[in-house]
Amino acid sequence: MDSIEQTGNGGQPQHKRRPRYGGSHPRRFEHKYKEHNIEAYPEMRDHLLEKGKTPVTTHIPVLIEEVMENLATKPGEIVADCTVGYGGHAMEFMKRIGHNGKLIAFDVDKDELERTRERLSMENVPASFYRSNFAGIANALNKEKIDGYDIIFADLGVSSMQIDNPQRGMSYKHEGPLDMRMDDRLKQTGADLLNKLSEEELSNVLSEFADERDHEKIASMIAAERQTEPITQTSQLVELIFRAKGLSAKAWKKKQLSSKSNLLHPAALTFQALRILVNDELGSLKELLRIAPYCLRPGGRIGIISFHSGEDRLVKKSFREGVKNGTYQSAAEDVIVPQFKEINSNPRSASAKFRWAMKTV
Ligand SMILES: C[S@@+](CC[C@H](N)C(=O)[O-])C[C@H]1O[C@@H](n2cnc3c(N)ncnc32)[C@H](O)[C@@H]1O
Repeated sequence: MDSIEQTGNGGQPQHKRRPRYGGSHPRRFEHKYKEHNIEAYPEMRDHLLEKGKTPVTTHIPVLIEEVMENLATKPGEIVADCTVGYGGHAMEFMKRIGHNGKLIAFDVDKDELERTRERLSMENVPASFYRSNFAGIANALNKEKIDGYDIIFADLGVSSMQIDNPQRGMSYKHEGPLDMRMDDRLKQTGADLLNKLSEEELSNVLSEFADERDHEKIASMIAAERQTEPITQTSQLVELIFRAKGLSAKAWKKKQLSSKSNLLHPAALTFQALRILVNDELGSLKELLRIAPYCLRPGGRIGIISFHSGEDRLVKKSFREGVKNGTYQSAAEDVIVPQFKEINSNPRSASAKFRWAMKTV
């Protein structure tokens, strides 16, 4: 079947051949032509969502009701969405702040930011978009000529679009180059670091950023392998991890099939740790937590969704200390996590943890 796309020149429809693939359904990222143009195929989107899957060019926002309820955004407020991504949370903020409010959106990912800017410009709400690390939200205050934000919100980590694109090398599930950068201006890729760090440094990264129990064995396997050839592809790294853990791909598949619960893939923690290192994710979060109180208006709220214990510990500690020293008037007593229903319909939300705090009036 051929698809029809609008061209930019005069809106003349142009026939475009769909990519060729074997079998009845496209399996590879580049062959999923309907998912790449999901707005034109609403039945495909509904079908995937029903199966608990995310179309490859979209992202399902997590904990949306909990975020909106606890941050209690009002008409006319100024919202800094530090990680705008696909714009799911931003869209909900826009509905609440209306045309007298303003959305100030940040993201380091150039391509996704541009697509989201176009999508959100349909809403009749003032908005600015910055290709910037959220550690720089204070700089935008001057540019916007405002004294502070009413809301600072961050949904940490990577988007589904980034994970699902094999060229970004963020997932053990797809064959691709070990890039792992969310911001392509960064100098070092995952492959660069894997081939450069000492065995001891690698072992520490795996242990500190992902609590990987086999950190020493994996680091030693990487150090030995790169003597023969550089590690540049996701599949090379996955294979090394299997070997370090004494597993074969076949044995793992069998284990998975016979298990009633969803087992963590043997490579998941190593990929997570390397991605956190490449993007200095903990460094950026620490800086955001440090500057947020200076960027919030009195009574302003900050909300952060994190996806692993290292991040959540930093957020919890910062908000608790802020309440103790009077910076924050109040903070979430308990961590807020997704309900079973949300995890069921969007398994990627399973590890999300949300905390908020309110600046003293
Ligand atoms: C989980 S997604 C956000 C999804 C978004 N809330 C939505 O509803 O579509 C995280 C986004 O944050 C961006 N990001 C991660 N770290 C960042 C940082 N330090 N500064 C700016 N953007 C960052 C990523 O590029 C990604 O697009």
